[in-house]
Amino acid sequence: MMEQRKGRRLILFPLPLQGHINPMLDLANILHYKGFSITLIHTNFNSPNPSNYPHFTFHSLQDGISATEASTNDVVSLLSLLNIKCAEPFKDCVRSLVSDDVSQEPVSCLISDAIFHFTQAVAESLKLPRIVLRTGGASSFVVFAAFPLLREKGYLPIQETRLEDPVVELPPLKVKDLPVINTLNPDTFHQLVENVVSATKASSGLIWNTFEDLEQSSLASLSQQFSIPMFPIGPFHKHNLAIPSRSSSLLAEDQTSIPWLNTKPPKSVVYVSFGSIAAISEREFLEIAWGLAKSEQPFLWVVRPGLVHGAEWLEPLPSGFLESLSGRGHIVKWAPQQEVLAHEAVGAFWSHNGWNSTLESVCEGVPMICSPCFSDQKVNARFVSQVWKVGLQLESGKLERGEIEKIIRKLMTREKDGDEIRVRVSELQDKADNCLKQGGTSYESLESLVSHIFSLET
Ligand code: UDX
Repeated sequence: MMEQRKGRRLILFPLPLQGHINPMLDLANILHYKGFSITLIHTNFNSPNPSNYPHFTFHSLQDGISATEASTNDVVSLLSLLNIKCAEPFKDCVRSLVSDDVSQEPVSCLISDAIFHFTQAVAESLKLPRIVLRTGGASSFVVFAAFPLLREKGYLPIQETRLEDPVVELPPLKVKDLPVINTLNPDTFHQLVENVVSATKASSGLIWNTFEDLEQSSLASLSQQFSIPMFPIGPFHKHNLAIPSRSSSLLAEDQTSIPWLNTKPPKSVVYVSFGSIAAISEREFLEIAWGLAKSEQPFLWVVRPGLVHGAEWLEPLPSGFLESLSGRGHIVKWAPQQEVLAHEAVGAFWSHNGWNSTLESVCEGVPMICSPCFSDQKVNARFVSQVWKVGLQLESGKLERGEIEKIIRKLMTREKDGDEIRVRVSELQDKADNCLKQGGTSYESLESLVSHIFSLET
């Protein structure tokens, strides 16, 4: 039953990218369950579907992002632009909400995505406490927070000749694992990271979609550096709420995925998805296709429109490719991923290691093959393969059919490596389950978060 703590409203502001919308809406559901009323401010661009959330109030911002700006491949430019263009309309919107609601439901605080760093200044100007949601993992945030040090020590900007060098200050990372993004504006990227870190330090608290047993040392390190309270209350999507959560996918989920998985033996299928932003070349796409074909394992492959540079969808695939596999492969544009990972037929997740995908895989005890593309994905992948040891990493440059076939066989067949990985990931899955039970670390941290929100009121 929903806890009754009516009369307090929270304003939530998600970053309009799939990997950020999902955890923010999950968090909204959790806090609603805890008795708060929820107002969600969102951009017009990548707007969530309000009809899936009749229990929330939605306010749309005229963000002024043009279709050309929205379709850029340069994520850094888009994020910087969002921080500039949303500032005025966001401030106006929050100001009117705070004054409207004052008599009925006082607004306790703003909860904003960390990347919307401009919201700290807005919150301060309106004397509204701001809590930050960081949707990525704590371990990658440790690295972002260390960017000034990494520049001072000469690790950044990355030099091609030093890719294999260890970053001695941040084991087990190598220079090639540093969370950079290919952009036309590297200075803008560094400025963005600096702004995100400093606006987070100035906030009234930091919520994490992670759990203590997974990222204890990174969380401890951040607690030392940031003098704000931290609330690791994840995995968000596994909280047991009275209302079953609805999908927050921006693309339609293909409903053939689950019936297709139902026809496959337990733990036999490789699920392949590189998330919502990453893009690959046509050459890489074909190597993946042939690697999957040669592995002889069944596969469910998400090929998002836009995944392959220069292609609409599957045109680069040789004609008759899927037919020649006699039902062993299934390709969809977008899958109900959490349901797919929870399906007993899935034996491995070949992932780009976006944080949500990484956590969702851990929660279902599915071992990973890691192919990180950019940013935090590189750090997440290294933690998967070398710290938690729940997956194997396809090192960059190895997106080649023979290597792909080899790594799939190594993980899926009953070889020693694969078996050990399966044992470890199922232990981690148990820990993810336990932290949400009464007395578990995330359960307790959520209780602290609720008390903290009440303590913020003036
Ligand atoms: C982006 C960045 O790429 C990533 O580095 C950062 O950690 C979060 O933002 P994204 O590419 O969207 O992430 O990947 P991820 O974090 O894994 O989030 C994707 C979400 O979409 C997951 O919740 C996943 O379940 C969902 N998804 C993905 C689907 O529902 N269907 C799919 O077919 C693919």
